[in-house]
Amino acid sequence: MARKFIVGGNWKCNGTTEEVKKIVTLLNEAEVPSEDVVEVVVSPPFVFLPVVKSLLRSDFHVAAQNCWVRKGGAFTGEVSAEMLVNLSIPWVILGHSERRAILNESNDFVGDKVAYALSQGLKVIACIGETLEQRESGSTVAVVAAQTKAIADKISNWDNVVLAYEPVWAIGTGKVATPAQAQEVHFELRKWLKDNVGAEVAASTRIMYGGSVNGANCKELASQADVDGFLVGGASLKPEFIDIIKSAT
Ligand code: G3H
Repeated sequence: MARKFIVGGNWKCNGTTEEVKKIVTLLNEAEVPSEDVVEVVVSPPFVFLPVVKSLLRSDFHVAAQNCWVRKGGAFTGEVSAEMLVNLSIPWVILGHSERRAILNESNDFVGDKVAYALSQGLKVIACIGETLEQRESGSTVAVVAAQTKAIADKISNWDNVVLAYEPVWAIGTGKVATPAQAQEVHFELRKWLKDNVGAEVAASTRIMYGGSVNGANCKELASQADVDGFLVGGASLKPEFIDIIKSAT
């Protein structure tokens, strides 16, 4: 089954209203391959979601960077999946390594979040990835498999899930995984899905790569058989994000 290339821009905790509007203008004016070829999703901080959604071209989509694990209520500071649906936000990024590391989000908690977000009708970019220490100790595949299993244990339908493999050591460091390193883990993840979920899910589930992707390194990474797109941090705030979108072709 053909997997449509997907490029996400994770703006993280950056931007003012003016800066966000500038990025949207840049995106709106860009000439990129059609929606049939590449799916583009940008993820501003919560507070900018409405303005970005209202100004952004209709062939690009928006994602929240997180949502609460269950139905909303007395959870100060949280934003629920229902609220995102109410605002017609179609996507949410869950399990980003910054949240796993800094806010102690466990594999189980991320699995619960993915399941709840899907149950409310959101599409999910679920992030996984190993630390440098885990890579150097040879446990990369075991780590990402455990992170994926925690999600697989809680869901029965993968149609609205995209995995984002983001080695922690490559995030924001300028130290991108080599195309061979990325391909190796993506291949292993697809094999894990085949062995543990099913051949159809393995063939159809998209796996993005994230970690120091930029305009210069995206093309070779994109040519890898099991790399189905990118989740971009720093470079998604810059004009080179357009080049990354274009690497789909
Ligand atoms: O979600 C995006 C990743 O954390 C990658 O960030 O492109 O700045 O390394 P980066």
